[in-house]
Amino acid sequence: MNIDNITIGNKDESLAKVPVWDIWIRLSHWLLLILVSLCYYTAEIGGLNFRIPMLDIMIVNMEIHLFSGLSILIILIFRILWGFFGSDSSSFLMMIKSAKHFFSYISNLSKKKTQLHIGHNPAGAISVFVIITVLLVQASSGLFAQDDSFFPTEGPLSHFISVENSIAITNFHKLWWEYIVIFVIGIHITASLFYLIIKKQNLILPLFNGKKKLPRTANYKTLKFGSTKLAITLLTIALSIIIIIINLKYI
Ligand code: HEM
Ligand code: HEM
Repeated sequence: MNIDNITIGNKDESLAKVPVWDIWIRLSHWLLLILVSLCYYTAEIGGLNFRIPMLDIMIVNMEIHLFSGLSILIILIFRILWGFFGSDSSSFLMMIKSAKHFFSYISNLSKKKTQLHIGHNPAGAISVFVIITVLLVQASSGLFAQDDSFFPTEGPLSHFISVENSIAITNFHKLWWEYIVIFVIGIHITASLFYLIIKKQNLILPLFNGKKKLPRTANYKTLKFGSTKLAITLLTIALSIIIIIINLKYI
């Protein structure tokens, strides 16, 4: 990675639209939003049971929960691998470099000049680590959880532990969501809106079109992107890990 100066300018300079976020980061982000909402909906509100008439299969609410939860795990594993081997803008190395400037960044945040960054700004870099970690804890604890409702559901690893421990983890799974995940996602969305409304810096649009407005003079041309072949390889690894976990249910 050749990008050393993480802060590369401010909004007063002449700007160009530069490709920054690859399709994999953008897809993962919006899929995470959909799947986390689906997990929340199926767990807290329910009522998504339906029948596929042609196959005469009944899809039960909590099965959708497990499916979306496991899909979240695939995305998280992929994102972690992508942070090591993928594009520069989403690399963990670049994020750590950015996060190191957190305190000076925050103390300058109230100034009118808006600092621009190629990838995540220091606050964004820290929030990404936090979001990935809290979601990992949420989804991993689900693997050991169990539901004793009308349609009983079990995480694929729940039978490796005692019923008491599984119930304890299930309670943890619920509380972690209620007290930690909702809080972290709430701050995340509020921060994005703060940048949009107060700092007049739209960080959301680049997550759709991949492009950020950056100073023409910045050395973003050296930014490297992970190839499609690499992305598919890493996705296959993530998918294989989850398939192995699902199959452990039948051991
Ligand atoms: C369940 C909901 C959400 C989750 C789990 C989530 C998760 C994440 C993650 C993991 C990243 C890091 C991207 C990466 O490098 O891989 C990210 C970035 C981002 N998210 Fe979300 N997100 C959610 C909802 C939203 C919503 C609703 C918005 C818009 C209002 C939003 C705006 C952003 C922005 C602007 C960034 C990029 C920040 C930057 O440029 O540093 N997110 N989000
Ligand atoms: C980020 C992903 C996830 C979120 C946000 C989430 C959220 C939740 C929430 C809020 C509940 C509590 C429902 C209630 O109040 O009764 C719950 C229950 C449950 N979750 Fe998850 N979950 C996720 C991932 C998973 C995964 C990956 C699995 C297993 C593969 C799983 C298995 C379960 C089970 C078995 C229950 C039933 C507990 C019960 O209702 O007694 N979850 N989940």
